[in-house]
Amino acid sequence: MARFREIIARYPEDKKKSALIPVLHLAQEEWHWLDVPTMDYVASLLGLSPIEVYEVASFYTMFHLKPIGKYVLEICHTGPCMLRGSDQLMDHVKNRLGIEAGQTTADGMFTLKPAECLGACGYAPMMQLGKFYQENLTPEKMDRILDELRAGTLQTA
Ligand code: FES
Repeated sequence: MARFREIIARYPEDKKKSALIPVLHLAQEEWHWLDVPTMDYVASLLGLSPIEVYEVASFYTMFHLKPIGKYVLEICHTGPCMLRGSDQLMDHVKNRLGIEAGQTTADGMFTLKPAECLGACGYAPMMQLGKFYQENLTPEKMDRILDELRAGTLQTA
């Protein structure tokens, strides 16, 4: 609640809705994903109707509306990344983890998601992993990243 109060203090009293995205980020940090009761709680905190929160949370791919793995691999598949092999990279990860896009591994470690352009086209192909970008990816580099995540040696937050 202290962090919530710090966020809403940045906005005028009658413009609390402007705090919705940072508050959703905070809620997701706290509960890892956004279920309906969580979104309803956010709505009540900001004095919004639940539908206003659902609309925003379901529009942006960075908000997770289903349970997710410990690590979310968000592989960009927009034009520049596609031209530099993101499809092959996605296939490689699917084979390696035994899941399809949108699924989570049985051990709860990894969720695989396609993402739209993340603004790092010059480093294509790339993915978002937690708070960091992983760039100039190859299947070999992706294997190293997955190994390091399993070993707990790669910082993502
Ligand atoms: S197309 Fe992948 S970061 Fe822009």
